[in-house]
Amino acid sequence: MTAAISLLDENPRQLLLANRTLAKLDRLRGAIGLDDTVSFWPWEKLGEVFAQADLIINASSVGLDGHPLDWDSHWLEPRHRVFDMMYGSKPTPVVSWAVAAGASATDGAAMLLHQGTAAFRHWFGPPVPEAAMRRALFRNLEARS
Ligand SMILES: NC(=O)c1ccc[n+]([C@@H]2O[C@H](COP(=O)([O-])OP(=O)(O)OC[C@H]3O[C@@H](n4cnc5c(N)ncnc54)[C@H](OP(=O)(O)O)[C@@H]3O)[C@@H](O)[C@H]2O)c1
Repeated sequence: MTAAISLLDENPRQLLLANRTLAKLDRLRGAIGLDDTVSFWPWEKLGEVFAQADLIINASSVGLDGHPLDWDSHWLEPRHRVFDMMYGSKPTPVVSWAVAAGASATDGAAMLLHQGTAAFRHWFGPPVPEAAMRRALFRNLEARS
């Protein structure tokens, strides 16, 4: 929910939000209020949502339970850019799906790094040891593969 609301700060031309549980989508609608640029979609309509999008952001935990992703490769076109907030030692299910369909995709490791650098700056101030943090993060992810 926080990710969706934060995206509005970037003044998107259009923001399409989809979620599996409709009650949560209603809560999000209530939190955002009336905004012509935002629309709300049931999970079953993901294909329609993607057709209207340039950038697809996965902020869900889909695939984390080990179930294969049942998303249709025809939902994607090479013009799409896919960002999966999930990260791990291997390509995430969403990144694998996107790359197999010919789109550019990246996982959430860099987001994790930058949350870490922001937290470091907040608590300790500059300088932030970003290079060391990056090395530690990717070394750790590699070690888990
Ligand atoms: N890169 C980073 O720094 C970073 C930071 C935070 C989180 N994350 C990642 O972002 C993702 C979400 O984190 P969160 O803390 O927001 O988790 P969360 O509160 O547990 O939210 C999970 C969301 O995923 C949806 N979901 C779970 N399983 C699903 C499935 N099988 N099909 C469709 N939707 C499903 C849930 O839908 P329902 O509403 O229907 O339950 C809910 O909207 C996680 O993958 C997490 O690893 C990354």
